[in-house]
Formats: sequence, structure tokens, C-alpha cells
Amino acid sequence: MSKLYKVAVCGATGAVGNQMIQCLEERDFPVGELRLLASERSKGKKLTYKGEEIPVQVLGQDSFQDIDIALFSAGASTSRDYAPLAAEAGAVVVDNSSYWRMDPLVPLVVPEVNPKAVADYPNKGIIANPNCSTIQMVVVLQPIQELAGIERVVVSTYQAVSGTGQKAIFELENQLKDLHEGRAPEAKVYPQQIAWNLLPHIDVFLDNGYTKEEMKMVLETQKIMGDDGIKLSATCVRVPVRYSHSEAVNIATKKKVSVDEVRAVLAKAPGVKVVDDPANLVYPTPLMSAGQDLTLVGRIREDISQEKGIDLWLVADNIRKGAATNAVQIAEILAADYL
Ligand code: A2P
Repeated sequence: MSKLYKVAVCGATGAVGNQMIQCLEERDFPVGELRLLASERSKGKKLTYKGEEIPVQVLGQDSFQDIDIALFSAGASTSRDYAPLAAEAGAVVVDNSSYWRMDPLVPLVVPEVNPKAVADYPNKGIIANPNCSTIQMVVVLQPIQELAGIERVVVSTYQAVSGTGQKAIFELENQLKDLHEGRAPEAKVYPQQIAWNLLPHIDVFLDNGYTKEEMKMVLETQKIMGDDGIKLSATCVRVPVRYSHSEAVNIATKKKVSVDEVRAVLAKAPGVKVVDDPANLVYPTPLMSAGQDLTLVGRIREDISQEKGIDLWLVADNIRKGAATNAVQIAEILAADYL
């Protein structure tokens, strides 16, 4: 019989944690024991895995005894405090928070792009799962980098509220209901109303005028693709969509390439699906992308403003490929090659 792994999901009651449990089940990950962890608030809750109800345990110092793989999605401060404890207890942590991503000793992995980086996990016992917007962009940038070399990227994102967590999904739903029923909507999660609106503000503002989310896209792309020379400028926008982030991406290439060449490499790229038939009004949308794991790419065209440039539009499910699926794919690499 093949080996079974003791897996912990830390933040199991959250939007991403819940999806991690579902992905483990869907992908038939060889789970021997599943330990579900969350805060005091979730005491007494039970979650279902393969038809079985599993009680949620309160996260504590001893939560990771005997665990082989710990999937974390409980916020940066929980990862800061508990990921090293889990690693010390012998688990390999796959961390979905931003806390460890730029640590030079911690690999930052998108399995379609840099799977070999997993080999560096023994440095700290931690592997970081990149930012959702970065993951879906690099699976598309990597084949173009190999085809033509990338000089510079300008990206604008249209990010779903689920990226902020379950509470933000409720906030959007409640605000829509309030507006429909003639009440003033209440904004608690976001600084302004998100229903019937959009906010060019994700994470905190930094001294250089960018937000932290925008700088994550810059720095994480360079780290994952192993190329500090890729210049990138991002504008990240929260939109009133429940699931799936969309991105308008402008790419200045080193070598001139045609739309057909780009379409051909993307058609073969792992984790990518070309959905690009404007004559029949076919292009990727968040509703089309939600609930599956591929990054959908369309609107592929030559940039008329520069000699060597491509414009495209890409959409992926931020909770699945942008978070849970990517983490479980990393766990699959660990199981296949390292543990
Ligand atoms: P809980 O549901 O008990 O609050 P989301 O990103 O959807 O808001 O989910 C965050 C996840 O992280 C939830 O499972 C939440 O548990 C968990 N979490 C947040 N803070 C802590 C903490 N201090 N200790 C353990 N789990 C936490």
C-alpha cells in the first residue's frame, strides 16, 4: 500500500481552509489522518471530509505532534507564530499567508513554474504559497518568458472579495441585500461600500504609493520566475465579485512574437486554458472560472502601442488555484518526491 500522510489544516474553518479540505478530498491525496485547526471561536464545530465529520480543534502549541504536512491559511500572524512550531515538531508547512514568502531561505512555489524549488524546504521546514494574483499570472508569464523573454509587465487586477475571507463574502451579500431593500449598507470589512462599487486598494498603502498587494505581485513574480530583471508595475482593485480574480496584463517582450505563437505556447502550458474566440464573444469571466483549477486566458492581441508587446486577459479561481489547489499541489510534490 502506498504511504498515507498525517495532514493538518490550520485555519480549516476559513474560506481557503475549507477549500483545502475539499481539494485534498477531490484530488484523493493520501490522507491517513486529518487534523482540523482553528481559533477558540470554532470550538465545537465539525467539518466533513469524505463523508466523515471531523471535530475542529483549537490551535495550540502541541497541535502538530506526529503531523507530516501542515497546510496553513489562518493569517500572517498565526503563520509567524505557529509555522516554526509545526516545523520543529517535524511537519513540513505549506503556508498560504504572506509572512514567509520573501524569506530567502523559504521556497515560494507554483508547481507549473518552479516545482524544483520545493527541494529547499528543509532550510526552515516551510514552503510558501504565493499571493493569489501572482500565482495565476506567473502560470501564463512563464511560457511567454520561455518563448520570447519578458522585459516588463503592467498588470491591473480585478479581485474577488473572497480573497479577503469568508467575512468579506458576507459583507458583499449583506450590502447587496441592504441596497435592494432600501437600507444604508454597512461597511465593516472594507473601508468603503463594495457593493455596486470597486476599491483601488488591497492591503495597506506603502511609502512608494503602491499597496502591499501590488508590491507582492512585483517581488513574488521575480522570486518564483527566478528573474530579478523582470520589471513589473501593478494596480490591484477589489471588485464586487464573489469568486475568481481577473487581470488585464500588458507584456513587453524581448523578442517580437505573434498572437499565434503566444496562443500556441499557452495552449500547451500546464494549468492554462486558452478561451479566446472574440468572433463568437467567447472570453474568460469570473463566473466561467469559479470552481475549477485552470487559469483561463483570452483577449490575446498584439499591443498596438509598442513594437514588441502582447496584451491579454486572464482569470482564475482565487480560492482554488490562487490558494488551496496550489497548496495541495505542493503537498503532492512533497509526497511524490520528498516524504
Ligand atoms: P475561526 O473560524 O475560528 O476564526 P478567513 O480567511 O476566511 O477569514 O479564515 C481565517 C481562518 O483562520 C479561520 O479558520 C479562522 O478560524 C482561522 N484563524 C484566524 N485567527 C486564528 C488564530 N489566532 N488561531 C487559530 N486560527 C485562527
